[in-house]
Amino acid sequence: MRVAEPLWTVGEIAKAIRGEASQDGEAPVAGVSIDTRTLQPGECFVAIRGIALDGHEFVPAAFEAGAACAIVDRDYESSDPRLIRVADAFEALQDLGRAARDRTTRTRIIAVTGSAGKTGTKEALRLALAPSGKVHASAKSYNNHWGVPLTLANMPKDAAFGVFEAGMNHAGELTPLSRMIRPHIAIVTTVAPVHIGHFNSLAEIADAKAEIFEGLELGGAAILNKDNEFFDRLATAAKARNATIVSFGEAENSDFRLLHVSLTPEGSAVEADLRGKTHSYRLGAPGRHLVQNSLAVLAAAEAAGADIEAGAAALLQWRAQAGRGEWQVFEGAKGKVAVVDDAYNANPASMRAALETLGLVPREAYGRRIAVLGDMLELGESAEAFHRDLAKFIDEAGIDIVFASGELISALYDVLPEGKKGGYASEPGELVPRVLDAIRPGDIVMVKGSYGARLAPLVTELKRHLEDGALN
Ligand SMILES: Nc1ncnc2c1ncn2[C@@H]1O[C@H](COP(=O)(O)OP(=O)(O)OP(=O)(O)O)[C@@H](O)[C@H]1O
Ligand SMILES: [Mg+2]
Repeated sequence: MRVAEPLWTVGEIAKAIRGEASQDGEAPVAGVSIDTRTLQPGECFVAIRGIALDGHEFVPAAFEAGAACAIVDRDYESSDPRLIRVADAFEALQDLGRAARDRTTRTRIIAVTGSAGKTGTKEALRLALAPSGKVHASAKSYNNHWGVPLTLANMPKDAAFGVFEAGMNHAGELTPLSRMIRPHIAIVTTVAPVHIGHFNSLAEIADAKAEIFEGLELGGAAILNKDNEFFDRLATAAKARNATIVSFGEAENSDFRLLHVSLTPEGSAVEADLRGKTHSYRLGAPGRHLVQNSLAVLAAAEAAGADIEAGAAALLQWRAQAGRGEWQVFEGAKGKVAVVDDAYNANPASMRAALETLGLVPREAYGRRIAVLGDMLELGESAEAFHRDLAKFIDEAGIDIVFASGELISALYDVLPEGKKGGYASEPGELVPRVLDAIRPGDIVMVKGSYGARLAPLVTELKRHLEDGALN
């Protein structure tokens, strides 16, 4: 029987990171891990020093979990022959990531950045590219200075496509990530006020996103949102790298243009003009913003040489994840209630998108639209205004009742018409009984706030309530 080629050998790793290894150089390594809780037998553990924890303390646990080897700083005290010693284990992870990128000569590499929708777009790409070849993509939101090199280090040599999420909170953070990824294709989903506390203006945020082109391979493609006010600014930056610009959006002349979207029980039905040809496809998740992202996905698929018909068909499998807009329907004798769990992340752009999506839900399916909202964090001085400004979208989307919890969101709650006020509490826990009491069969309930607004437990309680016979 032919054994599959290992991801790395110990010798290859030692060479890539200029490390000292005493193990047999031919010893196989199945993967690279920085977390002993998820490490699989045969993987290489990299001991990284974090803010709170030092990975070196977990080296024994890594070997207990079956690690094939461990990359450690030279001063780590142990005589285990499975260690690979380097000057700095964190730099070694980056070196390994670069080596992985260098050895993939046939893989088409795609980087996804933007103020919202990176993970969703990355997951959609994973689905859309799969019919055309082997896909390697970032896990979860592994988009930072350790997530990116870790994802690179785990990329198999024979992947047809590599899909990388790249994120930033500050100017200057995307440049080194992009230079490590060296994408052939870079997507900027959107530019919006997120982490604005670290920037002086939205234009500065756009410029920080444009750093994704710093590592773009010459002659690569930049996939840009034509509906966004910073399209031209991003396009100019991309052209400086000789990139081909591919536009997507609702704007006329978009290369990948949205013509029509409607919500269906299973997600969104899309009609789009893709380079002059009309296509119809369905997404397994509802929302105009996700449809927008899907256009970027198909544009990237085309630029990567993948089959876009098959890619569009695969998007029916796309689901929003828990905490990121997942829909769950609870049914009982008295009727049904839908819960939209968007409790892990919120900023003005995604809040607006979530409210608009709620507004697209047909009244025949759900008679009453309820929003349970928490604070949007990291918005700096204008935070209050960003919260208050949501009132307009609540009105436009025909939201019937709003519950709110948190200091910042009170600025919104205060300006809502009395008839829409469902309840306010400074602590989310206090809001729970009031929300549970208000829910009726036929409602759709959307829960959204920043992770720090702590609405996730409320979602859990709401779901438990609906499962435990509230509808019978
Ligand atoms: N194009 C978009 N515009 C506005 N909101 C969007 C867009 N795409 C996705 N969202 C919403 O943004 C939220 C976060 O989505 P996702 O997790 O994909 O983003 P992300 O950029 O990976 O976030 P993070 O920075 O936390 O990794 C979800 O509520 C999602 O519905
Ligand atoms: Mg993410």
